Amino acid sequence: MSSVVVSACSKFSLNISEIAPDKSISHRSAMFSMLAEGTSEIRNFLRAEDTMNSLEIVKNLGATVDDDGVSIKISSEGIKESSEVLDCGNSGTGMRLFCGLLSSANGHFVLTGDKYLRSRPMKRVTTPLINIGAKLDGRADGDLAPLSIRGASLQAFNYDSKIASAQVKSCMILAALRADGICTYTEPELSRDHTERMLKGMGANIKVDGLKTTITPMKDLLSPLVIRVPADPSSAFFFAVAAAITPDSNIVLEGVTLNPTRIEAFKALERMGADIEYKITDNKYEPIGDISVKYVPLKGIVVEDNISWLIDELPVLSIAMACAEGESLIKNAEELRVKESDRISTVVEGLRACSIEVHEYKDGYSVIGGELKKAKVDSDGDHRIAMSFIIAGLRCGMEVDDLECINTSFPNFFELLQKITKVEIL
Ligand code: S3P
Repeated sequence: MSSVVVSACSKFSLNISEIAPDKSISHRSAMFSMLAEGTSEIRNFLRAEDTMNSLEIVKNLGATVDDDGVSIKISSEGIKESSEVLDCGNSGTGMRLFCGLLSSANGHFVLTGDKYLRSRPMKRVTTPLINIGAKLDGRADGDLAPLSIRGASLQAFNYDSKIASAQVKSCMILAALRADGICTYTEPELSRDHTERMLKGMGANIKVDGLKTTITPMKDLLSPLVIRVPADPSSAFFFAVAAAITPDSNIVLEGVTLNPTRIEAFKALERMGADIEYKITDNKYEPIGDISVKYVPLKGIVVEDNISWLIDELPVLSIAMACAEGESLIKNAEELRVKESDRISTVVEGLRACSIEVHEYKDGYSVIGGELKKAKVDSDGDHRIAMSFIIAGLRCGMEVDDLECINTSFPNFFELLQKITKVEIL
């Protein structure tokens, strides 16, 4: 397990066009290509462990994948039974969306993942799927992977979800596309909507009315997907915080998806005082553009609404909160406890190690802005925790252990970080 020592940085001014491609869109591009007639073409696919696992699964399910290193062409003649166990690695998105895709496919499938994924809750998808006729099972009464799926006929449904989760919504939309009648899915708060946008762009009959999505099952295969995956705002946000906590610095993050369900953390950082501008440069499936961030001294804020729009960015937003004047509070964020780690515990422990006063609650925590001190922090195998505390190190120096996980989402993270500071991998 490798470790890194990063040094405090001095002011910088940078344009970055190589932020890792979007993870959510990359997973979906690989999976949705299996619903199309003809060849889908994906450029700028995220070549990180999570999404390469999804691509490998798509291959194992019988798709032809032609990858010339620049674009990936995928064609499929329907989902085929695989002799392989389908390994989602660390990815909850992979596992939960494949559950929806495979529930109605002909055959038997087994989904597994690494030790972290095998301990994350799956009932949020297995229960609603079983309720419409899917044949799924797993450890702990269907809650834990490995999961087995025997494809079955699915009944039309009206599902009222209690969780604002794009993974659950996407799983059920994929199931609905093959159900025996029109389905509706209602969520308590709008979650990221790439699935709806991409499938609609491929010709699926999906209507969104506020929090309710109505899905008419597919009569025919969809049109192929032709997409250039934009940069991932959740990855870009690490560098936004880097600029926002370093006096006299600024950064331009190019080609990022500006989908409103994905840039809420930038809006939160703006509320903290940072000077942020957005410039749309493209608009296929969703708005894409450049985000510029300039340092302005930060102040504490309360984050309690639209939590699913910034759930992945809360760990590194907490680093900005530690550098702000006054107290910040994160509420209604209990979902953090079932991410790649229990992110309420890992953030609270990490910040305390850096001498920041933090109070932990069931659904969040408060952070009292202060002076970050150099410490040794363990990522607990969670990529966003590792990268968050490395960014904290730009203020005070930091040692972070257990780094391999960064390859699940942002393989060129260190290459970009080296443009700002000294990085020593041990
Ligand atoms: C994702 C949805 C979110 C997010 C995850 C990616 C997706 O999870 O945390 O990193 O691609 O649908 P939930 O939908 O479970 O909140």
